[in-house]
This record gives sequence, structure tokens and C-alpha cells, in this order.
Amino acid sequence: MRRVACPGSFDPVTNGHLDIIRRAARLHDEVLVVVGANLAKEGLFTVEERLGMLREVTSDLPNVGVDKFTGLLVDFCRDRGVSAIVKGLRAVSDFDYEMQMAQMNYNQAGVETLFMTTNPLYAFLSSSLVKEFARHGGDVAGLVPMPVLDRLTARLRDS
Ligand code: PNS
Repeated sequence: MRRVACPGSFDPVTNGHLDIIRRAARLHDEVLVVVGANLAKEGLFTVEERLGMLREVTSDLPNVGVDKFTGLLVDFCRDRGVSAIVKGLRAVSDFDYEMQMAQMNYNQAGVETLFMTTNPLYAFLSSSLVKEFARHGGDVAGLVPMPVLDRLTARLRDS
């Protein structure tokens, strides 16, 4: 059985993330979507809130689980029997850092990284841009799943 991990900050999950998760779920036996909990201190959403949104928007995918990790991703992979990390690549700007992380993770722990090209519909999309646009009244309805849009709107209204 091949279990892979889709790691990220997911603050919040976007339609671009979800596209990669869905496609990864078609290719692998099990996909663990994992939130890097140690990186999450200054986020708009808490780690638990991010996990909740991820669970809700992946609830129709029976082979997708949601979890968090602290420390090194490769340690999580070893502990959970994850053989590969799946990452979406949007543009060349993503490439240098992702390549470096992938090689470090392979060098240190033998964990492979599989890159998937992002759907061109979402090539420009990032959680940071979504938050920035939404904060200033922009319409991000087509960019995040509906449950996320509701929470984003509420969070920005209350902040
Ligand atoms: O959504 P992001 O910000 O691109 O996610 C980045 C993340 C969490 C996937 C990445 O920073 C990561 O894997 N961090 C875990 C800590 C770790 O293992 N660092 C060494 C990487 S070589």
C-alpha cells in the first residue's frame, strides 16, 4: 500500500490545494494531508481550525486523512509509514526552494518527493494572496471551497 503525504500550512486550504489533494488521491492508496503545526504561530487560523476545514472539504474522499505534524516532516513520514511527499508546483518561482527541500528530505531520510503541476486555473493562487484580497474586500469566492469562504469572511469581519 502506498501512503503519501500532502504537507503545507493550509492557512486556509484553497481550491489549488484541493485540486492537488484530489488528484493525488486518485493516484495513491492513501493521502495524508498534514498541517505543519510548528510553522503556524502567526496564521489567520489556528491549526485546529485549519484541520477542521481540511476535514470538511475532503470528507467525500475516502482515502484522504487529515493530520498535523511538529518538527521535521521526514520524521512524521517515518513514524506514519509515508513513502513519498506530494507537492504542487505552480511556477518556476516555486521550484528552487521545493527542489532544495526535496533533495534534503531524500538525502536525510530517503523520503521521495513527487511534484504535480498545478492546474493552470490555480497557478496564481496562494493562501497569502487570498487572505490579502479578502481582507481588502476582494471577491475570493471562486478561489476557496465554500466552507472556507464562510469562515474567512467571518474571521476577517471579527478581526
Ligand atoms: O504551505 P507551505 O508554507 O508551503 O508549507 C511548507 C511545509 C510545511 C510543507 C514545509 O515548510 C515543511 O515541510 N516544513 C516542515 C519542517 C521540515 O521538515 N523542514 C525541513 C525541510 S527540508
